[in-house]
Amino acid sequence: MKAFIEGMPKAELHVHLEGTLEPEHIFALAQRNGIELSYKTPQEVVDAYDFHDLPSFLTIYYAAMDVLRTEQDFYELAYHYFEKAAADNIVYVEPFFDPQAHTSRGVEFATVINGIARAQEAAAATLGVESQLILCFLRDMSAQSAMEHLEMALPYKDKLIGIGLDSDEKDNPPSKFAQVFAKAREHGLKLTMHCDVNQKDIHEHMWECLNEINVDRIDHGVNCLDQDDLTQEIVRRGMGLTVCPVSNRFVVQSLTSKEIRRMLELGIKATINSDDPAYFRAYLTDNFLELQREGDYTLEEVVQLNRNAFDIAWLTDADKQRLLGKLDRYVARAS
Ligand code: ADE
Ligand code: ZN
Repeated sequence: MKAFIEGMPKAELHVHLEGTLEPEHIFALAQRNGIELSYKTPQEVVDAYDFHDLPSFLTIYYAAMDVLRTEQDFYELAYHYFEKAAADNIVYVEPFFDPQAHTSRGVEFATVINGIARAQEAAAATLGVESQLILCFLRDMSAQSAMEHLEMALPYKDKLIGIGLDSDEKDNPPSKFAQVFAKAREHGLKLTMHCDVNQKDIHEHMWECLNEINVDRIDHGVNCLDQDDLTQEIVRRGMGLTVCPVSNRFVVQSLTSKEIRRMLELGIKATINSDDPAYFRAYLTDNFLELQREGDYTLEEVVQLNRNAFDIAWLTDADKQRLLGKLDRYVARAS
């Protein structure tokens, strides 16, 4: 099982590039950019990772980003993640980035997106990792700021596949961003939003995602199982969910293996993802391995979760079939 999971060609649809910033890289960037850190070693940084809910994670996550200043910094951030992805046999990824977390520190939008886009091209050419980028708005900032950033992003539209919504969910409902998401849709961008596990008003947020925003996917979304009518609507729409088991453990003390199995039983298109792997100390293969162990998942369940990711990816049908073919051949060889 372990070797099978490690070697399986995978897709990842929920990973924040800023959440792949490794402590060693924080140190290297701080030195290059002349920034003094309050930690003496990368291990001290890891030791300070004390998350128990979303806000306690976000405080540490945003503070560390201060070392990211130049286009080369963003290139390296993304390229290091793509190297990890290649080691996990990820062949396709739709990574998130948070431009407002950088423009608010005086870093130009162009610096961020050009560095990431250059890394995407290099990763496809040299590592065989294909990707399409999702711009996330920070929901604890204003709708006006989100709109300003959408305007900034439109000249770079060909570098984006979709728009997401992340950061602190409390009292920041999807409806706050209805106008900006409608405009993104008019420009042909796909739409997704975080519905993080066990957040305040989570069921209302999920309903707003479905009925007011008309999202194409939901990030996390585990709480759809709490209400029958919500569950049924997710099933009826064939709505994809990007679940993050190790990330969930910081909030609900479980990898939610029971919930994810229930989703599979219901035919919900659940997928497995790493969210912020440098912080939660688990990349995609680790998430699959730990989930399989906790839930004693069968090979078929593992493959189905990974197949779902290719299925709900924002790819053309031809590209989906091409990548699913890789998975099918791998499964056929292994069995
Ligand atoms: N930003 C980075 N990771 C996040 C998460 N898991 N939830 C909300 N916002 C985030
Ligand atoms: Zn996330």
